[in-house]
Amino acid sequence: MRVGILGSGLMGAKLGTIFARAGHDVVFSYARSKKKLEKLARDAGGNARAGTPREAAQNADVVLLAVHWSRVDDVLKQAGDLSGKVVVTCSLPMNGDDTDLVVAHTSSGAEVLAGKVPGADVVAAFNTVPSEVLFGVFEGRSHRTRPSLVYCGDKKSSKHLAARLIRDIGFDPVDAGPLRIARYTEPFALLVARLAYEGEGGPELAYRFERFHARQELKGS
Ligand SMILES: NC(=O)c1ccc[n+]([C@@H]2O[C@H](COP(=O)([O-])OP(=O)(O)OC[C@H]3O[C@@H](n4cnc5c(N)ncnc54)[C@H](OP(=O)(O)O)[C@@H]3O)[C@@H](O)[C@H]2O)c1
Repeated sequence: MRVGILGSGLMGAKLGTIFARAGHDVVFSYARSKKKLEKLARDAGGNARAGTPREAAQNADVVLLAVHWSRVDDVLKQAGDLSGKVVVTCSLPMNGDDTDLVVAHTSSGAEVLAGKVPGADVVAAFNTVPSEVLFGVFEGRSHRTRPSLVYCGDKKSSKHLAARLIRDIGFDPVDAGPLRIARYTEPFALLVARLAYEGEGGPELAYRFERFHARQELKGS
């Protein structure tokens, strides 16, 4: 897939690098220095390059939005028209000092984003995982048991692309439902971050969802 990265910081740089190493064409964009983007592309190897947000979005099959909530309008403006694009967002609607969500309960950052890019299709993914664990999960991708990663969105074909990216980087994609479920996954992401950083050594948390097949068990008992 051609993946355009809007925001090449902790999440965008790592996810973009892993996407490139998994065989996708990646364009890194939106950092304060062009040199940083060029170095990222060189280090990622594969088919990765640096570009402007517009170049990243132009031919992309999937656009990854990975900026602080306060930068969303600016990066969308620079990216230009996203009609017809699949926008996968890992951005959480956080306040300036990253202590709280500014959109929650009756809406979500993902739904507000969908209102800002009316012609595009938004899928929320990757925001329930701390960036520090991404390379480790990618390296362990051949393990039988993979950590889960929830995603949600309204359109089946767009979610299919997001699920492929999630699987390619070593997680087990778990479809949490329509985009409005981001109202629950975003606070869940905050909880994961709080728990992950509780210890002294950085993120130490993995989550895995299991289905219990309760009905079958009931029948058999
Ligand atoms: N980090 C995590 O573990 C994590 C986990 C889950 C969700 N999230 C969410 O993911 C989103 C991205 O987080 P992040 O940690 O990747 O953020 P980040 O490291 O701060 O990256 C943001 C990117 O935006 C760029 N940027 C900021 N201001 C800019 C400006 N004025 N002009 C051009 N570029 C600018 C930064 O450039 P520079 O590279 O030059 O700084 C950086 O590349 C956030 O919404 C966050 O809540 C993060």
